[in-house]
Amino acid sequence: MNLLRTAMVLALVLPGLVHAEQVAQVASPDGRTVVQLDLNGEGRLAYRVLRDGKPVINDSRLGFIFRNGRQLLRNLRLDAQATRSQDDTWEQPWGERRFVRDHYNELRATLVEKDMDQRRFDMVFRVFDDGVGFRYDVPRQPHLQQAQIVQELTEFSIARPATAWWIPALEWNREEYLYHRTPLQEIGIAQTPLTLRTADGLHLSLHEAALVDYAGMNLLHGENGVLRAMLTPGSPVPVVRETPFVTPWRTITLSDNAGGLVDSNLILNLNEPNKLGDVRWFTPAKYAGVWWALHLDRQSWATGAKHGATTANTRKVIDFAARNGLRGVLVEGWNPGWDGDWFANGWGFDFTRPTADFDLPGLAKYAAGKGVHLIGHHETGCAVSHYESQLGAALELDARNGIDVVKTGYVCDAGQIERQDAPGGPVLREWHEGQWMSNHHLRVVQEAAKRHVAIDAHEPIKDTGLRRTYPNWVSREGARGMEYNAWGNPPNPPAHEVTLVFTRMLSGPMDYTPGILSLTGRNGQEIQSTLARQLALYVGIYSPVQMVADLPEHYAQHPEAFQFIKDVAVDWDESHVLAGAVGEYVAIARKQRGAPVWFLGAMNDEHPRTLSLQLDFLEAGKRYRAEIYRDGDGADWHGDARFRFVREQKTVRRDDALALWLAGGGGAAVRFVPLPDR
Ligand code: NOJ
Ligand code: CA
Repeated sequence: MNLLRTAMVLALVLPGLVHAEQVAQVASPDGRTVVQLDLNGEGRLAYRVLRDGKPVINDSRLGFIFRNGRQLLRNLRLDAQATRSQDDTWEQPWGERRFVRDHYNELRATLVEKDMDQRRFDMVFRVFDDGVGFRYDVPRQPHLQQAQIVQELTEFSIARPATAWWIPALEWNREEYLYHRTPLQEIGIAQTPLTLRTADGLHLSLHEAALVDYAGMNLLHGENGVLRAMLTPGSPVPVVRETPFVTPWRTITLSDNAGGLVDSNLILNLNEPNKLGDVRWFTPAKYAGVWWALHLDRQSWATGAKHGATTANTRKVIDFAARNGLRGVLVEGWNPGWDGDWFANGWGFDFTRPTADFDLPGLAKYAAGKGVHLIGHHETGCAVSHYESQLGAALELDARNGIDVVKTGYVCDAGQIERQDAPGGPVLREWHEGQWMSNHHLRVVQEAAKRHVAIDAHEPIKDTGLRRTYPNWVSREGARGMEYNAWGNPPNPPAHEVTLVFTRMLSGPMDYTPGILSLTGRNGQEIQSTLARQLALYVGIYSPVQMVADLPEHYAQHPEAFQFIKDVAVDWDESHVLAGAVGEYVAIARKQRGAPVWFLGAMNDEHPRTLSLQLDFLEAGKRYRAEIYRDGDGADWHGDARFRFVREQKTVRRDDALALWLAGGGGAAVRFVPLPDR
């Protein structure tokens, strides 16, 4: 008797000893990945993930802590379970690939509390060959009408020793940090996507899909490799939802190699299909602008002698764009509000009229005559409610002037988004990654869609694949971009971009603003890249809007290299990672949408290396002219060696391998053009 009591007490304090019972299981279509659900003696729910029979995620808890009710995590029983399968292919209006296969097995497990309240929720697991998505589906019910979620108790108990690539969450500079590479145990609070490579070579990416009306999920390292969800704060709690509601999908992308993470479609597949219908009004395109001159401090956003967005200056940029086949011209500083300390004065921005020295309708007409469209700019300085009060009128102005892409901006420290629910009311502070901002961004995207305008958000909320549902949400920043090479201390090191490909880029497109062929920032600061590497970025860092960011006079100094930028596509039928290691190097091949032309981009960290790449993506039986832009002998990311560069041509076929030497900080870019049959 006594012994039994001791065992029961022990079982309560040492959860590991509590008897657990497996209640449900589901496997991926290829059978390699298995998810199992357990309920232990206390009625606590856990899931685990196995691959090839070996644990990847050990038993990991699920549940919620509420502000307005008891926690939901114990005393559960399985009320029902159902499985179903799907194997579908859907088409992207634009993207890294045209067709996406959505193939999974699903388990829906209904859990009910055994006590009087009998609160209930479903856990839905979708298991794909390339990973797992799961979410909570909470129905309408008498004892849970409104959920004020203090924390979601989702865990990811990583079963194997692993190296992690991550950036900190809830720090002042939002998503604009260099990535840490540490053992799993040394993660603090990380943003997602978070990338892991286990000691035995399995690659994992932890992230989320379809972040709608909910707070972004960060991951806190507890102990023994357990990563815990930590929702971004909100007022008064991270999330307030009326039932019924679903959480975003929590995602675990799995791959035997680094490239498989990049080629995965898991995040897109877990989002809802297109709600906008035909979006052919959005044209993927390259664009020019006054942007780099602003960041070099040669011109200013503010009016006055240095003002970049003047009528005369913008005409010159439109001419440059038209001459070089670039569809867009982004003009920042076009509107009132930049004079003085704009950082501190977001409530002063006017998005509905231009400054006196910027003839918007005249320029729009001038651009249209040359097949060019202006790109709008809405920097909010984080006075987000103020921006929303002008949103409709601002977008009307854009649409009237042929502006069909708008870059938005949310510059302020993390946690300093200004929200005012009623005019004259109190101003609350929100987080860029919080529930309120998840709703704000969708308000903007939906209002923009009504006017056939696409959105490219800087200082955004993280990407969770919502471009599938709202294909006018075309790009965003959300990482340390090229601007840090103008004024950052330090600038982006060679490993940064080859880390982004396997971390931030797993969430979606990035407006990195590549192509700085002058390789020089403010005050002569060297950009840690070779010339060929700047070209490779157009293929390596995907975005359907790609800036041709350098000054026209700098492109004039590098006509050979500039040819690649003019030729490179921005929309693709297929994309494949040919080779890669997280934070070290990557080579990606992409086929131009609607054309038999392929492009290849390779990028390297600071260690020179040679890649031997199989060209088996090319069509069989065809010969191609490979136009190769590569690092020249002795090229390197320091000093004049940055500019050593070779352009050469070769005839190649599908059976060939292409050897590419990459300098430290270097890269290579190739265009493959089919030759007429002989
Ligand atoms: C930060 C953005 O990332 C940058 O592209 C923009 O030029 C400035 N904010 C001003 O809006
Ligand atoms: Ca930024």
